[in-house]
Amino acid sequence: MRLMGKNVVVTGGAGLIGSYLVDCLVERGARVVVADDFSKGRRNNLAGVIDRITIREGDLEQAAAMARALDGAEIVFHLASRAYGIGYSSQNHLALLAHNERITNNLLDALAARPAGHLLVCSSSCVYPDDGPDTVAELPVFCGEPEQANWGYGWAKRLLEQKAALVAQATAMPLTIVRPFNIYGERYRWIDAASQAIPMLVKKVMDGDDPVVVWGSGTQRRNYMHAADCAAAIAAVVEAGFVGTVNIGTEDTVSMLGLIEMICRLAGRRARIVTDPSRPEGRRIKSCDATLLRKVYPGLEACMPLEQGLSRMIDWHAAEFGTVASG
Ligand SMILES: NC(=O)c1ccc[n+]([C@@H]2O[C@H](COP(=O)([O-])OP(=O)(O)OC[C@H]3O[C@@H](n4cnc5c(N)ncnc54)[C@H](O)[C@@H]3O)[C@@H](O)[C@H]2O)c1
Repeated sequence: MRLMGKNVVVTGGAGLIGSYLVDCLVERGARVVVADDFSKGRRNNLAGVIDRITIREGDLEQAAAMARALDGAEIVFHLASRAYGIGYSSQNHLALLAHNERITNNLLDALAARPAGHLLVCSSSCVYPDDGPDTVAELPVFCGEPEQANWGYGWAKRLLEQKAALVAQATAMPLTIVRPFNIYGERYRWIDAASQAIPMLVKKVMDGDDPVVVWGSGTQRRNYMHAADCAAAIAAVVEAGFVGTVNIGTEDTVSMLGLIEMICRLAGRRARIVTDPSRPEGRRIKSCDATLLRKVYPGLEACMPLEQGLSRMIDWHAAEFGTVASG
């Protein structure tokens, strides 16, 4: 599908993944509207394209703001979501479900009345159950309970997927569902204890915490992808005209302990590492079966190596907190 000249709306377009997606879409010649309330996203994330996009600021939990955001949209990339790290998510299931449901219902009410030419919704690997295979392919959305540590958020994403499928079917609107795994990047906005794992660990190491405390056993393994690569994959699957559900991530995993050691090495820091098994760690291994994604998006092979991304996160720490990284 040609993106050149298309009226494209990116909800959550000022956020971590959304802002890189906006960069990709502008580069392809799309006319981009960013709909965001800047609760977590930042204008600064859009600095490189600010004179080539339109911003519609508003809280998409309000129906009127959603209707205004989607006005004239030919393609909708829906990324806006209240999404936090495991520390917040594991304690606030109902609030996360309720926030995200309001956004979902407003989006789909608006699109049921006036469908777009294509809808992409951003779900999450948190829809998958904890007892699934370590390397997860695109399982059906209702299959056991979603990830326990992200139970409310996981249900919100399952409902987003299912409701979007119903509206797509009723309106004959092509629908793409993407399920990113763990995404990180230097456009991350620090939100204290609610922050996600990589920014949290980078901050601990760079702040000189001694010991650095890791939640759970520290042996839990995750796949990490830089947000720029995730955004490139999202743009590419829509550009390829892909309709259906696809994971975004790769099979590679690293343990939390391995991650800290890598951050220390890259930053030239030393730290004792202590695990706290009383804290949630989520599932043991969460790796992405990217077989389908590779077929739709061969560019996946050129993803940023984790070490390079972590070096960028060390620079992020300096910019975010005004410190100087050593090493
Ligand atoms: N980062 C990850 O590891 C990850 C993994 C899987 C799925 N996802 C999904 O990808 C999408 C983007 O995530 P992200 O990591 O870029 O998060 P993010 O928080 O950086 O981006 C979300 C954006 O949505 C905006 N937003 C939130 N609530 C809003 C509201 N009510 N009205 C208007 N704007 C609102 C925020 O200001 C922010 O700019 C989300 O749907 C998230 O659930 C992220």
